[in-house]
Amino acid sequence: MPSASAYPDVMEKLVSLCKRRGFIFQSSEIYGGTGSVWDYGPLGVELKKNLKDRWWHAMVRARDDIEGLDAAILMHPRVWEASGHVAGFTDPLVDCTNCKKRFRADEPRIKGEPGTPEAQCPACGMKGTLTAARLFNLMFKTFMGPVEDSAAVVYLRPETAQGIYVNFLNVQQSTRQKVPFGIAQIGKAFRNEITPGNFIFRTREFEQMEMQFFVDPEQPSGGRSHLEWFEYWRDQRRQWHLGLGLDPARLEFHEHTPEERAHYARAAFDIQFDFGGTLGFQEIEGVHHRGDFDLGRHQEYSGKKLEYFDQPANRRYVPYVVETSVGADRTTLAVLVNAYREEQVEGEDEGRTLLALHPSLAPIKAGIFPLVKKDGMPEFATKLAAELRAAFPVFYDESGAIGRRYRRQDEVGTPFCLTVDGQTAQDGTVTVRDRDTLKQERVAADRVRAYILERLSTA
Ligand code: GAP
Repeated sequence: MPSASAYPDVMEKLVSLCKRRGFIFQSSEIYGGTGSVWDYGPLGVELKKNLKDRWWHAMVRARDDIEGLDAAILMHPRVWEASGHVAGFTDPLVDCTNCKKRFRADEPRIKGEPGTPEAQCPACGMKGTLTAARLFNLMFKTFMGPVEDSAAVVYLRPETAQGIYVNFLNVQQSTRQKVPFGIAQIGKAFRNEITPGNFIFRTREFEQMEMQFFVDPEQPSGGRSHLEWFEYWRDQRRQWHLGLGLDPARLEFHEHTPEERAHYARAAFDIQFDFGGTLGFQEIEGVHHRGDFDLGRHQEYSGKKLEYFDQPANRRYVPYVVETSVGADRTTLAVLVNAYREEQVEGEDEGRTLLALHPSLAPIKAGIFPLVKKDGMPEFATKLAAELRAAFPVFYDESGAIGRRYRRQDEVGTPFCLTVDGQTAQDGTVTVRDRDTLKQERVAADRVRAYILERLSTA
């Protein structure tokens, strides 16, 4: 169970910063908002894209044993019968017959046993109006084609993984990969969550970055048994999160008890991040040993063999799967919570709010400022901004006091600020201010691009 955290709760401040600075907006806000659906603004889309790019690079591009895939959201409805989601992807819910509100059966504010006269509705306070718990499926349904009847029902996928399983042989045969190998994809998933909330932590539409790694169920493949591959991926994935700059003290593993495991899992670890406040440690990624559950079920339901043929050993088998499944939105939230600081600056009355984002994730890499709006400084700075923009995202700002301009960039996590000043015209140098140390150094303007690219690559 998650426990309250030693870190402060910064969620409210973060929601406000994200809206004010264009990271994240409530969906359909002008209509009063859509429940637990969020839109990414100009800076948010860059941040999340940088995060997804890091995952894609680590999981697909930098390895020769994982292939990429982009499967469709809508799939044959039998997929979800085979996967167990139609029967088992449910939450137990209770309804209040008086106020018509619906709650999870384990909602801590419910007093008494739902379905009995003593049970009290946490919303309207009436006794005896709560129904006994009923199972409620979390998948969104829609209709394919013009006729809205039960034969036309399709689902919005609740996980991206199934698109990988049904394409297992397509990918394996077209790429001639040999077990052990993996298939990775990034895509939207949808769940009609009953208790969504905490900003982008639990939403009804979100993005997953999932990888299914296919291994030999009986013999070591690639030098590891299936259980060793499970441990390997658990550790690899923790390293990846550390590479994003997440504080090691805020990351921990949680091993699932048999009761906690999803219907497909033989063993599972969550990688949890401490979000602070009462939210505390919560799952950001699941590493699951899915055995041959999914491929086996798809064989059974489709009637098509999903076996791997090990040519040298002349053996056919259904591989076991080790899955790594991380939420792009939830990890974006972890990164934001981890980066949020309020600091006093020495020699200044006004403090600063800072997003100490890993430079590779920062939406803007450099702010470019002319110290004053005269003496050719804006012209020099505009030209420099245009040159640098070809290499990475920059922001040109000539309005307000220089301190104010620094603060604006600190608040959105920009790692470097370049200022064109009186000395620039004399020796061609600009100041480069480091967001975290506040140190400034002079760098030749024609070297600044290489200097920042070097700092970005070694950060
Ligand atoms: N294919 C396995 C699977 O989907 P999961 O533990 O249900 O496993 C994996 O989800 C990850 O997806 C979670 O660790 C979380 O980061 C993200 N996730 C799941 N439900 C979410 C939701 N409602 N909102 C945001 N992210 C969610």
